Amino acid sequence: MASRRGSSTVLLPGGQTMATFTKHSEDDEGLPHATKKTMADHLRKFEALFNMTPQRMRMIVEAFKESLELGLTKNGQIVPMIPTYVFGWPTGQETGMYLAVDLGGTNLRVCLVTLEGGGKFEITQAKYRLSEEQKQDDGQKLFDFCGECLKAFIDTNLESGLIPKDQVLPLGFTFSYPCSQERIDHGVLIRWTKGFGAPNTEGHDVVEMFRKALAKNSVPAEVVALTCDTTGTLIASHYVNPKTRIACIFGTGCNAAYMERVRDIPKIAHLGIDPDTEMAINCEWGAFDSFEHENLPRTKYDQIIDETSNKPGEQAFEKLISGRYLGEILRLIICELIDEGVLFLGQNTYKIEIPYSLDTAFLSLMESDPTDELLMIIGIFNHFFALETTLAERQFFRALAKLVARRAARLSACGIAAIVSKMGYLEEGCAVGADGSLYNKYPKFAERIHEGLHDIFGEKGKNIVTYHAEDGSGIGSAIVAAMTKERKNANIYPNY
Ligand code: BGC
Repeated sequence: MASRRGSSTVLLPGGQTMATFTKHSEDDEGLPHATKKTMADHLRKFEALFNMTPQRMRMIVEAFKESLELGLTKNGQIVPMIPTYVFGWPTGQETGMYLAVDLGGTNLRVCLVTLEGGGKFEITQAKYRLSEEQKQDDGQKLFDFCGECLKAFIDTNLESGLIPKDQVLPLGFTFSYPCSQERIDHGVLIRWTKGFGAPNTEGHDVVEMFRKALAKNSVPAEVVALTCDTTGTLIASHYVNPKTRIACIFGTGCNAAYMERVRDIPKIAHLGIDPDTEMAINCEWGAFDSFEHENLPRTKYDQIIDETSNKPGEQAFEKLISGRYLGEILRLIICELIDEGVLFLGQNTYKIEIPYSLDTAFLSLMESDPTDELLMIIGIFNHFFALETTLAERQFFRALAKLVARRAARLSACGIAAIVSKMGYLEEGCAVGADGSLYNKYPKFAERIHEGLHDIFGEKGKNIVTYHAEDGSGIGSAIVAAMTKERKNANIYPNY
């Protein structure tokens, strides 16, 4: 079937299409490109696929709410709703010097935090990039690396006099993967997320593994608390803005935490904790709709991402939202159009055919390109993929990026709405501390979440306001460590 001069697509016996293009050496016309009209037709198809109506969003919110409630009722549910043993809000008067280690999706960060009280603090930190090999290598090696980096950090700060000599500092460990906890300094990894796959870690207590690494490296630190980045963000944000009720991370992964009444966490009723006490819940909402896939609007591109991931079936919600996957969704669409002979005929497309080669940061740049000619997009395709584009194609890519990112923001709004609706926060309103590269750097991500909340709740949706949160994995983790020390010193639930 000839699609345009010199190019054609052939249907292969396996059902795939093969695009061909013939160019004569004396032919001095440029490369064939899709016309404005072809691109507009395609765009309409993708708009229909990625659009989410307010009605559809409300249905998702209802299903989400049920999942959250189920997770609080029974162990082992899809959305695990993990009780964190962080009892209530910080007073803002927590003080002292703490270490914080944050094993995130991209970096390892070690921090020295001095809490000064009155919501004030000081932080000194160092970052170490994690390699892809480290993420897949033996788990204990990963924790040993954390121990080594921490040791180096402490030694440097001992020399400079920032850390006092002969002191064992309390440490908050931020480990942002789902762990079931029996007490605050314990956590059994349920499953790796965000592309990690280090063997001999799932099913193990990660605090014990980390303590082993500290002992091996003779690190003068005592692990007081294990927290997830969302729980840390919840606590740190409340420390500086007491109106905060919910915290979210929209980064390489995505998740939320909020404060729950113990009486509404039936699965820990047997622990004998005062039902009026409050405890932070780490939702691990990235798992919503995993395995069953009944509620989320998954396209074939989302399914490919899922099936080719190292964890098929898992983290269904996260795979539609987080920064790890958005670029890949767009790349898969582009590759499909290459195979159909719509895009880049006659050009060598091997670079863009490499999985995960189109980073979400590129989408962010495409959407923020201020020029009429979309020069930034020319640059991205030229420089990173050795591809030439027309203005019509660039406009199409930008529109696609918007569709993918807008759907992510609207789904994020569904998650927030589920917690708001479950907790009855809509009337009085609440602040949602949010962090992560997508939230902080992607143009209009917050705006689109707010628009989504408005679509779900109507005018009252404006009562729910997200804002850029305080650093949860550093400051938050230190505050949690401080709260835990105080609680244990006061003999309040000392075994938790
Ligand atoms: C993890 C969460 C984490 C989130 C954001 C998810 O993949 O399971 O624990 O909070 O990413 O970092």
